[in-house]
Amino acid sequence: MYTEIELDKIDICSEPPAEEPARQYYFMARCQEWAKDFEQKHGRRPTACVTTFGCQMNARDSEKLRGILRDIGYIEAQEEQADFVIYNTCTVRENANTRVYGRIGQLKPRKKKHPHMMIGLCGCMMQEPEVVEKLKKSYSFIDLIFGTHNIYKFAELLAARFEAGRMVIDIWKDTDKIVEDLPNERKYPFKSGINIMFGCNNFCSYCIVPYVRGRERSRKPEAIIREIRRLVADGVTEVMLLGQNVNSYGKTLDAPMSFAELLSEIEKIDGLRRIRFMTSHPKDLSDELIEVMGKSKKICRHLHLPVQSGSTRILDKMNRRYTKEQYLGLVNKLRHAVPGISLTTDIIVGFPGETEADFQETLDVVRKVRYDSAFTFIYSKRTGTPAAVMEEQVPEDVIRDRFDRLLKEVQSIAGEVCALHEGTVQEALIESVSEQDASMVTGRLSNNLLVHFPGGQEMIGSYVKVLLKACKGFYYLGEPAGLPSGQDDGMK
Ligand code: 5AD
Ligand code: SF4
Repeated sequence: MYTEIELDKIDICSEPPAEEPARQYYFMARCQEWAKDFEQKHGRRPTACVTTFGCQMNARDSEKLRGILRDIGYIEAQEEQADFVIYNTCTVRENANTRVYGRIGQLKPRKKKHPHMMIGLCGCMMQEPEVVEKLKKSYSFIDLIFGTHNIYKFAELLAARFEAGRMVIDIWKDTDKIVEDLPNERKYPFKSGINIMFGCNNFCSYCIVPYVRGRERSRKPEAIIREIRRLVADGVTEVMLLGQNVNSYGKTLDAPMSFAELLSEIEKIDGLRRIRFMTSHPKDLSDELIEVMGKSKKICRHLHLPVQSGSTRILDKMNRRYTKEQYLGLVNKLRHAVPGISLTTDIIVGFPGETEADFQETLDVVRKVRYDSAFTFIYSKRTGTPAAVMEEQVPEDVIRDRFDRLLKEVQSIAGEVCALHEGTVQEALIESVSEQDASMVTGRLSNNLLVHFPGGQEMIGSYVKVLLKACKGFYYLGEPAGLPSGQDDGMK
């Protein structure tokens, strides 16, 4: 177990071990020596900042990088002050790439002034060969570039950078490897994301993820359960199970297991109070899973179920493998099995060939489902995906107009749905002191909405019953309704 490893006791003069994770512990110990030298030279410890772009998978990967940096001897700092700046990048839409290039450009003058400063880039964008070529050519001041498949090798790559004294690049095309037992630094003491699988096999025709995150592979259930047990012993009460398509969990295991079965096992862990998961693909959302969700005392009453489009014709071109009617059928089943469930979604506007009639189908789904909220995206052409070469790309002004209409509809429905809970008492997990008002705390409800109400720092991490007094569109103002909830009252 990683917590039992003492880096100081590792013999760094010997050859590095061949097997993982021992090999990474060895390189962490080597980097630790470098950090000690830095401290001697500068009279302070080195500082680092990991900035995340993109989704929750990336956020979780960043926690792993922070854990390794912490154990090497770095202290966390704001990006402006950090000796080591790392961007964990996203490439799902073109504007994610543009933002990263902008930020790297801004680092150049700083690095010129402080040559000891280091810049690292990792994540999905690095899996695109054109990106790495461009970085090599025009951004030669970068120190370390690695991808999504070898993130576990961070310490080894960092050691290579210290030894080489120049840019180190290591990108793998794919992997079937999952390395367990590496450190990580959680953002919150009371909740945590947990990877249950990596990669995606779906190849939705617009999406670059399967190309940059590789083939689907699931972690062994024992490893997942062990990690959650350890987290719970360390104060975690809410977990978010992460994967690009959690509903197909377990299909690639030697002893296949369904996602519903995994959830049932996780439910049994004492001390764990809330279970969330994302992302669900409608085509793999089984009756078994809906049944487990309905019976569970711990699975939160919220499901993120990306629809992408309401038009069966467009869904087919997107390679989503469900129809509008099948999607609406799933929603009905869910609402029946889990009364009051909150549904959220992702929608893409302007997919090649989308007509006004197709768009009306999307609006129709939005009106029928009545989502609690929806992430709406303008279609972004990603080179290498089948959709990028489809004819009939929709003109920009048409997309913009549809996007605005969709957003208006989504927001007005979300406001109405939010108002339905006004006056009810619900349990909230207190996450922080409110950013707007220091006399208030912010809690998350089972349905994933936030509530702000009077309280203090000492409440963070506890569960409190809150009266939702006023709905403010996508959050509530409330007041405590009685004493903090007991540890095991069976509430979600
Ligand atoms: N253009 C626009 N949105 C996209 N998404 C994925 N690929 C693209 C793209 N090329 C959206 C989908 C997905 C979410 C994470 O990002 O809606 O569910
Ligand atoms: Fe992309 Fe589709 Fe896989 Fe989601 S399921 S990551 S949208 S290919």
